[in-house]
Amino acid sequence: MEACRRSSTRENSRFVVQQLAVLDPAGDLARDVRDGLSRPQKILPPKYFYDELGSRLYDKICQVPEYYPARTEAALLEEKAGEIIEEVRPDTILELGSGTSHKTTHLLNACEANACHASYLPLDVCEEMLIDAGNRLLDQYEWLKINALVGDYSAGFDNLPGSVGSRLYVFLGGTLGNLNEFDARDFLASLRGMMGQNDYLLLGVDRVKDPRVLHAAYNDSQGYTAAFNRNILNVINRELDGHFDPEQFEHRAFFNEDKSQIEMHLHSVSSQTVRIDGLDMNVRFEPGESIHTEISRKFTPEALASLTAAAGLSLVDHFEPENGYFSLVLLSPASVKMRKIK
Ligand code: AVJ
Repeated sequence: MEACRRSSTRENSRFVVQQLAVLDPAGDLARDVRDGLSRPQKILPPKYFYDELGSRLYDKICQVPEYYPARTEAALLEEKAGEIIEEVRPDTILELGSGTSHKTTHLLNACEANACHASYLPLDVCEEMLIDAGNRLLDQYEWLKINALVGDYSAGFDNLPGSVGSRLYVFLGGTLGNLNEFDARDFLASLRGMMGQNDYLLLGVDRVKDPRVLHAAYNDSQGYTAAFNRNILNVINRELDGHFDPEQFEHRAFFNEDKSQIEMHLHSVSSQTVRIDGLDMNVRFEPGESIHTEISRKFTPEALASLTAAAGLSLVDHFEPENGYFSLVLLSPASVKMRKIK
């Protein structure tokens, strides 16, 4: 993505930045925007939030008091990283959607404490974030080697570097919740298909809870979530020569109890027609009409267990805080060996 081009890499024997092959050349922003904005209920895929500004806004969201998932998951990770690393003893850690890699430091601290000098493969769409985070981690851990992967994991994993030894795949933040039931199962099943017998997946998912807590988390009082949501319009303006005025769209997020998911929308505040030059397209909005930009599914422990089982993964460990706000699960490819019962 344009705004995520590299600034200054420090490529050397400890830090390599690699562009992943594009697996779905047709699956680009232009096609997704054209398709999504032509539907009766307009939609945009949430992966386009994460240009450099969007990635930084998400990092801000993670720091507001209302957005409990990031804090809760980080605290869980900090507490359980030792246990996880002792169990897995990974040779490589591959993180899908690594962002700032802040939470990953808990795993790397545990690696250090256990003399398990794993290499780290952070994968993200935003190269700027990968380089900033990578440089920071290299200063922090003198034994660490990083192979950063710039790319989009949504089209599958055939472009990932092969693995030697045991690999810990990491997918945190509750991002699995951005996929509907079927896509989430497919996603996990194809991840499962890549995993060798000694590999593990550490997965963070958000849980069902008091709707008021959920609502507050996606409507923070400082407006970072609103800015993050509207930023998808800036991305279209920049990449496709669009003429959206983000101020003409209102952020709305609510919990859909039937579907057990947060839904985020951008509501047109007026009757307007928006020109997108790059698509030679005019998009018409009635007042109040919305673009659906994100679902963020919230799981019960049972729903999580049935999803992971359906994808051929077996549960090694399940960590949760006392209030049950978030789950961190350690998974392995099912039925390859007897799991340790805890
Ligand atoms: C990064 C996908 C986990 O779904 O909670 C935060 C993104 N959206 N606030 C989420 C997000 C609105 C976030 N994930």
